[in-house]
Amino acid sequence: MSLIAESYWIAGLVSLSGAGVLLLCYNAFFHPLAQFPGPRLASITGLWRLYHYAIGDWHDLILDLHRKYGRVVRLAPNELSVVDESAMKALYGHGTPALKSNWYSAFQSPQAAPNQLATQDPQISADIRRRMAPAFKMTALLRLESSMQDCFDKLWQQLDKPASEGAIVDMCHWTDTLTWDVIGQLCYGEPLGSIAGAGDMNVQGILIKFLMVSTVLGHVWGQLFWIENPLTRLLGIKNPLSKFFEWSSMKVRQHEESDRSGVQPDMIDHFLAYRDSEGKPPTRLQVVDGATATIGAGADTVGIAMRSVLYYLSINPAVVAKLQKEIDALDSSESISFRQTQQLPYLKAVVRESLRMYSSVPAQLYRIVPDGGLSVDGHFIPPGTIVGMCSLAQNRDTAIFGQDVDVFKPDRWLGDEARGRYLENALFNFGGTGPRSCPGRDLAM
Ligand code: HEM
Repeated sequence: MSLIAESYWIAGLVSLSGAGVLLLCYNAFFHPLAQFPGPRLASITGLWRLYHYAIGDWHDLILDLHRKYGRVVRLAPNELSVVDESAMKALYGHGTPALKSNWYSAFQSPQAAPNQLATQDPQISADIRRRMAPAFKMTALLRLESSMQDCFDKLWQQLDKPASEGAIVDMCHWTDTLTWDVIGQLCYGEPLGSIAGAGDMNVQGILIKFLMVSTVLGHVWGQLFWIENPLTRLLGIKNPLSKFFEWSSMKVRQHEESDRSGVQPDMIDHFLAYRDSEGKPPTRLQVVDGATATIGAGADTVGIAMRSVLYYLSINPAVVAKLQKEIDALDSSESISFRQTQQLPYLKAVVRESLRMYSSVPAQLYRIVPDGGLSVDGHFIPPGTIVGMCSLAQNRDTAIFGQDVDVFKPDRWLGDEARGRYLENALFNFGGTGPRSCPGRDLAM
């Protein structure tokens, strides 16, 4: 290399390093978010947060961060985590103008129509929600109660033998298979877990892998491009999700082509029956996407919630005894129906408290602070900042739930009605009550 070319290289490298150092200094000391506390590394680079998402310790870390730094913590140069009831309403409540951040794009498969979880566009999101709404109505869900009960009955059969022998069973495994069976049954009219033997494809494995990868890649430049690009296509490496889409598409086609009269309509039937304001039916891709979002967002979340309830019951025998007493007082020798559970306040308190202690979605739910900014705990957060709330941090906030936040105490939900209502409004499990909140909340509960 000539001397001149070499000196150009050196000058280039020095300029780049200088620009890098300047950027890091700007992020750490002069950025509009520089006043917010947080780990020093987080103030200069988002790689720190990416690393913790990748190694999977976020659920512990986010609690420690808020306990150490307070209700507003800087997680990356332009990103904050907040804990606050009024911020929850502003970001996730009715009529909020706050949009989802670009992190969600990593949940959008390139081959599919926009899906409800991933889309950032409020108009598209509203259209999808309208299309999916009939399937989530309580009346539609109640009609499917007997198919859900079938899945539970199959599970009881599996558990009968080990229970009579006093053997240890892995309830993580069984709650998982149960919820994939139930959601599969509701959505496709067939189980997707494996209580009664594996189905014809591993939907559960594919979707869980996709969700895990997307949660991390959402923070990486290029996002899904890293797993699906011209090179992977050239090498014949298929995104595992494509296999699932082909399968899902085939199931939708079967619904379209078969005579469904006399069959209890499942969610795909509801999606197919939808007509927009001009009387137009949805495309097949839109129906496939509705099904994907439903099972992708609905199966694992309910499984985790069940495990949380079972875990806290298993270490709190006094709570079990009280719950048993409430259930025994019900006049029912059969399985308990959804309507009957509405007469069981202690059961509701146990479920609510378990979900408070460990929520199914521990990731930050990122929103872009809208025009006018956001006020949290006496701090002004400028518009354009990426702000996320984490259910775990909000639900263990001592200012809201009291000094005993780490104690499993279903009774905190009972007795004082006004206090119970206040806590319920501050609890952050289903993404608030606004335009992007969880449509599966009633089904889950
Ligand atoms: C205990 C169970 C559940 C929990 C804790 C839960 C939690 C959540 C949360 C926190 C969000 C908001 C995500 C965000 O803003 O990024 C959400 C959205 C969503 N949930 Fe659930 N969910 C549960 C069950 C279900 C079920 C059973 C279904 C469907 C069968 C479902 C379908 C969805 C969908 C489609 C979205 C996207 C909504 C949108 O972005 O507009 N969820 N869920």
